[in-house]
Amino acid sequence: MPKLLILPGSARRGSVNCKLAAVAAQLATEAGAEVELIDSNDYELPLFNQDLEDAEGLPPAAKELKAKFTAADAIVFVSPEYNSSITPLMKNFIDWVSRTETDDEPSLSAYRGKVAGLLSASPGALGGLRALVHLRSILGNIGVLVVPKQFALSGAPDKFDESGKLTDDSALKSVRGVIRDVISLATKLA
Ligand SMILES: Cc1cc2nc3c(=O)[nH]c(=O)nc-3n(C[C@H](O)[C@H](O)[C@H](O)COP(=O)(O)O)c2cc1C
Repeated sequence: MPKLLILPGSARRGSVNCKLAAVAAQLATEAGAEVELIDSNDYELPLFNQDLEDAEGLPPAAKELKAKFTAADAIVFVSPEYNSSITPLMKNFIDWVSRTETDDEPSLSAYRGKVAGLLSASPGALGGLRALVHLRSILGNIGVLVVPKQFALSGAPDKFDESGKLTDDSALKSVRGVIRDVISLATKLA
């Protein structure tokens, strides 16, 4: 079974995207995948700056996250929507992981041939859908195979119980559908 990384684009306490990421991780585990759910707070990174990279290379947290991308068959990105796009946190993760560390390393090596699934959650009626439009474009341009199915959870703060369970059956079915397609494509490519 494929190795899946689940990456939330929020580090906020009580984040609805972190809750959705945990639900996705559980569904992927139940489907038999090897799953790692990332806690964004474990990867505190400076805002990408090429002068910093030239002087010091990749920070240890960026190296660690990049190694996890490299080892994974698929990544599920779970992004909030900020002003109709992805969060600066998510973009910063994507940018640091995109960098090479040696002259002979192929560009974008951590992304090539990877499968991705897209999820978002927002209090708003569109569920963060506009962030996923941008995310799909960014990932497609760096060699990631993004599965066509995606899901944006609207009214998100009211859709989880106190234990973090997603209480909306239709939403749960949609998340399961995305996870199933990610696992299926990653398995076919392996
Ligand atoms: C700077 C900023 C911009 C936002 N812009 C949007 C937006 O364009 N669309 C939307 O649905 N929600 C927007 N929101 C609200 C977020 O969806 C909401 O804060 C959400 O809870 C963030 O996700 P999280 O709970 O996973 O941290 C914005 C929030 C912030 C802080």
